Order: sequence, then C-alpha cells, then structure tokens
Amino acid sequence: MFTVGILTISDKGSRGEREDESGATIRQMLAGISAEVTQYEIIPDEKGEISGKLIEWADGERVDLILTTGGTGLAPRDVTPEATLAVIDRLAPGFAEAMRAESIRITPKGMLSRGIAGTLGKTLIINLPGSPKAVRECLEAIRPALPHAIEMLTGKGSECATNDN
Ligand code: MTE
Repeated sequence: MFTVGILTISDKGSRGEREDESGATIRQMLAGISAEVTQYEIIPDEKGEISGKLIEWADGERVDLILTTGGTGLAPRDVTPEATLAVIDRLAPGFAEAMRAESIRITPKGMLSRGIAGTLGKTLIINLPGSPKAVRECLEAIRPALPHAIEMLTGKGSECATNDN
C-alpha cells in the first residue's frame, strides 16, 4: 500500500468555477491498485504555490506519490513543469516519455503537454495534463509501473525482477 496526493492545478477550479473531474478521474483509476489518497487540493496556476505544496506533501506529509493535473501546456499561465523542476532532486523521464508516446498515438495534441516527473526525497512527483480524457489516457500508460517505482524509491523493494512485466 502506498500513499498518494492529488494536486489539481487550475485557476477556475481553485475559484470554484469548475468541477474537478480530473482529480476524480485520478481517484477512480487508482482504485484498482493498492494506493490510498491521503492528500487532495485544488490550487491556482501560481508557480510558488505549486512548488510550496509539493514540498509540503513530500517533506512534511511524506506522501509516496504526488500526481498533479493541469498547467502543463503552452498557455501563458501554464507553469506546473517549472514549479516541479524547481523542487525535484532527480528527473525520472521515463514516465513523461511513456505518457507522451501514448498520447501522440491517440492525438497530435499529445505533444502539447510539457509535463515532467522526478523525485523529491522519497516522493515521486508526476505531472499529468489537465483534461479528464488526457488524465485517463496518460495514467493508463504509467499505472502498471507505479507500485514497483514506489517500492524502489522508498527502499521497500530492493531488487528488480528480470523475468516479469
Ligand atoms: N494527452 C492525451 N493523452 N490526450 C489528450 O487529449 N490533450 C493535450 C495534451 N495532452 C491531450 C493530451 C492538450 S489539448 C493540451 S493543451 C496539453 O495536454 C496540456 O494540457 P494542460 O495545460 O491542461 O495540462
């Protein structure tokens, strides 16, 4: 069992002008694996606020996995990747590579997401795009690797099995 924080990044969502379907989609998709959502918030597209929340959940709450949704595109206020890059100590590019590869297979718009992934201490942080559809497609691509990634990061699993998938 590992713990998860869902951080929805949306100006409209944070003002209560839009229902957070993307956060709900993440929650539904995690139901099938041994993950417990312990943190959830909707915050605006403000770099300092996003970085601050990531540090709070990683260092303070010791959440194993933080999934952000939104703010990864090319609009002027999209700063989630920069806010994440400012706090992580190591990049984990495979998650973003897998998500974009799968997304581009589905729609050319998949290449518009600039999301990144990396580690902050023993917390894995992954940026998902903002729409519920994109969340579903991206999470589908990386979900099978999440439990093992977290085992390795937290030191609970020390070896990679070579003969499984
Ligand atoms: N990825 C998938 N799999 N499916 C999608 O429909 N939409 C794209 C992209 N990634 C999409 C996707 C679009 S239209 C945008 S603008 C970017 O994600 C960035 O979204 P964000 O700024 O809401 O994070």
